[in-house]
Amino acid sequence: MGNAGLLGFMNISIVLLVIGFTVLLFMVQFELGPLSRLSTGRKWLMTLVLGSGMVAFSIKLVIIFTLLRFPEQTIRAHINMQSSQSLVQWERRNQITPVPVAVGMQKAYVWQALPEVAPAPLWNPTTPEKVALGERLFHDKALSIDRTVSCSSCHDVRKGAGEDHRRTSLGIGGQRGGRNAPTVWNAAFQSVLFWDGRAPSLEEQSKGPPLNPVEMGMPSLQAVEQRVRENESYREPFARAFGAGQVITITQIAAAIAAYERTLITPDAPYDRFVRGDDKALSAAQLRGMELFQSVGCVLCHSGPNFSGASLFDPSPSPQRLFPVFPERKYVGRYRLTRDAGANVPGSKQGIWRIPSLRNVALTAPYLHNGSVDNLAEVVRIMATAQRGKRLGNDIEGAKFIVWSRQNRTISRIESVPLSDRDVDDIVAFLKSLSSEMLAARSRAGTL
Ligand code: HEC
Ligand code: HEC
Repeated sequence: MGNAGLLGFMNISIVLLVIGFTVLLFMVQFELGPLSRLSTGRKWLMTLVLGSGMVAFSIKLVIIFTLLRFPEQTIRAHINMQSSQSLVQWERRNQITPVPVAVGMQKAYVWQALPEVAPAPLWNPTTPEKVALGERLFHDKALSIDRTVSCSSCHDVRKGAGEDHRRTSLGIGGQRGGRNAPTVWNAAFQSVLFWDGRAPSLEEQSKGPPLNPVEMGMPSLQAVEQRVRENESYREPFARAFGAGQVITITQIAAAIAAYERTLITPDAPYDRFVRGDDKALSAAQLRGMELFQSVGCVLCHSGPNFSGASLFDPSPSPQRLFPVFPERKYVGRYRLTRDAGANVPGSKQGIWRIPSLRNVALTAPYLHNGSVDNLAEVVRIMATAQRGKRLGNDIEGAKFIVWSRQNRTISRIESVPLSDRDVDDIVAFLKSLSSEMLAARSRAGTL
């Protein structure tokens, strides 16, 4: 019932009141008055006293009746509507564009499982012969100048999770490199390789380490070809993989290693089982972590089935990102995050880095390009603050900021609930669901 209903009800009440008063007047003047032989003045006084009693009683009835007919919610809703209308008028008067409400307007993020086969370039199809040859080359120390280091020295794929568990790698003569060895597992899905994304393919990438003076120290690619050619036992496998009667080339060596690496994939993580339909594959904490991974915005960079915007799945125009975006002094100092500029111009405060895949990340400590962080929860805290500008803390009420944009002349309220210790633990739990069951079993057996 709106205003009109209320007015009609008041009109009827007033009419009834007037009639009642008139009846009372007649009763006192012509019935009660003559009976009790009152004077004219007294008669009027009595009418007034009885009349006011009747008015008071009617008012009481009207109030009770109104409260019954207009329940609380109706009155509240009415007030709210009025105030929001006046807010709109205020906004118009002050030429303020209301901030659109984002809820329900954003496209939902779709989670994907890892394919069972890695794509290969047309000129280098993955054949069993090439894979077998590549596996042998990957483990051959003859590819280094002093025959002490193979690819697997730093990327242990037989006993380890495809890396070396060192902060930075050890190459020939015990020389220490400047960066952490990433895992080669699932590198086959990345569109660009190395921490800074400088290699465009696995084939190109594999020509790098043999020539790196700290890693394998070969003087030239011809020297690498020579090493393989002089080992007679390679002739037959090369003939099987590339056809008989050819001279072994660096292109073939690189092609075979790349073909082998395309078989180093792990589509067997609990996360993949979950996305493929096994509802029980993730725990409650992992599910909470999965939601946080999305709502905190980790998916803005670590997206798609390989958890990297730098993967072959959605060839992003920017596989590299600033890191740290928000240079949090505490972390930048403690972990020397800006000492290495990545793909950036040297001397810049912030580096540019390829977005790494997060598959098997729980098995590949230490973390980041310089291997400076041992603990996965700490990396999550660094990422949340440095990449998303999140605050950390256990105050779940959060903070409300009023943000006035002078440029757009818009005002809005941002509610930034800080990331609690439990949230961090849940994200870590989710990241653990990206670990291959096969590699995790090795880890439990203590070989990792
Ligand atoms: C001395 C240790 C060492 C050796 C030997 C070595 N690597 Fe690496 N590998 C590294 C390091 C360190 C990086 C990261 C370097 C960078 O980003 O600048 C890397 C990066 C890679 C990557 C990129 C992974 C990614 O996610 O981008 C691949 C693939 C790879 N190596 C394969 C190989 C192959 C194949 C060989 C043998 C031909 C090899 N590595 C030899 C230490 C080594
Ligand atoms: C703006 C892009 C961006 C966002 C958002 C982002 N990351 Fe990262 N992440 C990166 C980059 C770039 C690196 C590589 C940093 C380096 O060079 O050391 C990285 C590295 C990592 C690593 C270490 C990987 C390794 O092997 O050492 C983890 C773990 C990680 N991110 C998790 C997260 C989580 C969890 C979130 C959400 C809280 C997140 N990231 C948000 C870009 C991002």
